[in-house]
Amino acid sequence: MEYPRTKEEVVRRYSEVFSRTSRVTYAPIVAVKAKNALVWDIEGREYIDFLSDAAVQNVGHNNPRVVNAIKKQADRLVHFTFIYGFPVEPLLLAEKLREIAPIESPKVSLGLSGSDANDGAIKFARAYTGRRVILSYLRSYYGSTYGAMSITGLDFEVRSKVGQLSDIHFIPYPNCYRCPFGKTPKTCRMECLEYLKEKFEGEVYAKGIAALFAEPIQGDAGMVVPPEGYFKRLKKILDKHGILLVVDEVQSGLGRTGRWFAIEHFGVEPDIITLAKPLGGGLPISAIIGREEIMDSIPPMGHAFTLSGNPIASAAALAVIEEIEERKLLKRAEKLGMYARRRLEKMKEEHELIGDVRGLGLMLGLDLVKDRETKERAYAEARKIVWRSYELGLIVAFLQGNVLRIQPPLTIEEELLEEGLNRLEQAIGDVEEGKVSDEVLKKVEGW
Ligand SMILES: Cc1ncc(COP(=O)(O)O)c(C=O)c1O
Repeated sequence: MEYPRTKEEVVRRYSEVFSRTSRVTYAPIVAVKAKNALVWDIEGREYIDFLSDAAVQNVGHNNPRVVNAIKKQADRLVHFTFIYGFPVEPLLLAEKLREIAPIESPKVSLGLSGSDANDGAIKFARAYTGRRVILSYLRSYYGSTYGAMSITGLDFEVRSKVGQLSDIHFIPYPNCYRCPFGKTPKTCRMECLEYLKEKFEGEVYAKGIAALFAEPIQGDAGMVVPPEGYFKRLKKILDKHGILLVVDEVQSGLGRTGRWFAIEHFGVEPDIITLAKPLGGGLPISAIIGREEIMDSIPPMGHAFTLSGNPIASAAALAVIEEIEERKLLKRAEKLGMYARRRLEKMKEEHELIGDVRGLGLMLGLDLVKDRETKERAYAEARKIVWRSYELGLIVAFLQGNVLRIQPPLTIEEELLEEGLNRLEQAIGDVEEGKVSDEVLKKVEGW
């Protein structure tokens, strides 16, 4: 196999060998090297990564502490199965996760991806409660293994082709900008929670529900932040019926929002947390962290993977956590997040296309609209902005077709954050001024 020379060649060869189902691209970025918030492609072009590689590189690409931990561990022990044996690194990692998780004396299960962590959480919730039903949210994303796919509130087409788990029910997420009940923050009486209560009366037996799965901030739904008080009131309802609260921190966890876990902003203690993406600094590792009695409710081998607890991935994860602690990245995410937020709010004053700026810490979204009154989603404009940003050397993406996703590394240099925001503003302006042709729409896929 010959090493390719140009990005066109790579794109062509990709289309020949890879199934289309595992990918959805925004721009042909053939990354060959990266450092912190910068990425270089095969032709030597430099990009600022405002996506942290899909919320993976919270401590920056090729973070030196993480790279050193990987190298050191690779020299000592690449793998020794955690199922039969006792490698030390996963132990140290699990002990560290117990220390930072907002659950009292939890136990931990390790896996390889956010999807398998959510599958495991479904099993733990069902086994512990002896109940089958899982509640989830519309527009949520939990992953693409069978369980995670079944509780995901997006992309129902695949399920119509391949089938799904049974006993899953969906409720609307509290979205104050696009309230499914037509309310505004001023007129809101948490109708979404009333809806849940009605669901119990008319559709699903509350005491037959094992768990509600929630993203503390709905990421792929377009960075939707619940209103103050929502989770507290929700938890009361769940507790009344013995329903567990599982929070998916796969995208929002490990400092992204300025706290270890985004749920900490909302003052409730979940029963189970799932974690993946940034945990291994780019290596595949996930964790389920839950109350001890829940985590011991499944017999041995009920949720086990040969390569889980891999010593290199565990050592990398320990280095990620250490980096967040030692460089005080929670504070930094909060500070840079506030700065970026102010800058985006200012852009909103200048650019009609921006309907809403939202998020917490460095988990930010720009909801693009054709008209601020109707809030009609600006799909074509979002695609053009992502493409124009790519041309200007900035990696961004959109979610739900129209919400720009802004999640730079927590370690991004202040000047690069500023420069990235400048490029984004230029891209928005260029699209508003009609400088980006419709041809671009054929090139950008996205979802
Ligand atoms: C909130 C959330 N949960 C779960 C997943 C699935 O994680 P993975 O792709 O590692 O399986 C994702 C991935 O985007 C996610 O954003």
